[in-house]
Amino acid sequence: MLTTPRILLISGSLRTGSSNEAVLRTAEALAPTRTAMYNGLAALPHFNPDDDTDPLPAPVAELRAAIGEASALLICAPEYAGTLPGSFKNLLDWTVGGTEISDKPVAWVNAAAPGRGQGAEATLRAVLGYTGAAVLEAACVRIPVDRGAVGVDGVITDPAVRGRLAEVLELLATAAQQP
Ligand SMILES: Cc1cc2nc3c(=O)[nH]c(=O)nc-3n(C[C@H](O)[C@H](O)[C@H](O)COP(=O)(O)O)c2cc1C
Repeated sequence: MLTTPRILLISGSLRTGSSNEAVLRTAEALAPTRTAMYNGLAALPHFNPDDDTDPLPAPVAELRAAIGEASALLICAPEYAGTLPGSFKNLLDWTVGGTEISDKPVAWVNAAAPGRGQGAEATLRAVLGYTGAAVLEAACVRIPVDRGAVGVDGVITDPAVRGRLAEVLELLATAAQQP
């Protein structure tokens, strides 16, 4: 019997009221039994190869365990100064030395306004290439999210956004079940 695919949701923003986190909160609300939110970004130490050895710093061990337990990853990260936020790049750096992400289906939602966010997306694609993740192109989409679209509960109610997110989740879940 196939087990339910578990999609780990990773936001690249630490901002309170983040629209990128809202995208993932919405995904979580759409598929609560198939998703898990990663909440440890702020607790990760700065990447240092000297520390990428057993015993790993606890937040790093938790990150790798969360990725290892997931059957797929969905990322939503903003663009800062033409690239990924440093804190999120730091998270990705910590995954390179592990094998948890290797061959795992990974997709991202680019929630930036039309014509923006390409630098972050290009960097994300390049860095994921070094991690060995299996980027699921069909599930990597642009869903522009205006801050005003985020409700007080941190979730997006726009049916068009929710519909596209449901498609992304379905694609990832299907990919995660491929042998
Ligand atoms: C320091 C800083 C730099 C930014 N640089 C860019 C940029 O280069 N390109 C872009 O499209 N948006 C840029 N933005 C806008 C953010 O990507 C945008 O506000 C995004 O919604 C933030 O995501 P969040 O709502 O999840 O925090 C920048 C914002 C900040 C605070």
